[in-house]
Amino acid sequence: MFNYTAQPESNLEFVEIAPASELPNGGRLFVDVGEKPIVIFNIAGGFFAIGDICTHDEGPLGDGVIEDHHIICPRHGAEFDVRNGKAISMPAAVDIPAYPVQIRDGKIFIGMPKE
Ligand code: FES
Repeated sequence: MFNYTAQPESNLEFVEIAPASELPNGGRLFVDVGEKPIVIFNIAGGFFAIGDICTHDEGPLGDGVIEDHHIICPRHGAEFDVRNGKAISMPAAVDIPAYPVQIRDGKIFIGMPKE
């Protein structure tokens, strides 16, 4: 329900985050956009951004182990797809936000919903 990667770009505002060189392959970058904690991943050259709060118990999620395109919550093991925010396994039943990432002129931009 918070899969902003599926939204038309006209509903989004792209916010500049950092030079893409700060997020090499296999890396992760933690940022706050407005009030929202977000973690951005570079997985094999693909960039993915999700909300950094687990929907199970609101713990931080971004330090979890990545397997393929899934992240495993470090607290109780819920699993989410970083491409679309989908909750894949219990104890989380609610999706997390996923935001589109674009690289423009060597910089990372995230598409945030317009207020
Ligand atoms: S807080 Fe993430 S699984 Fe419990």
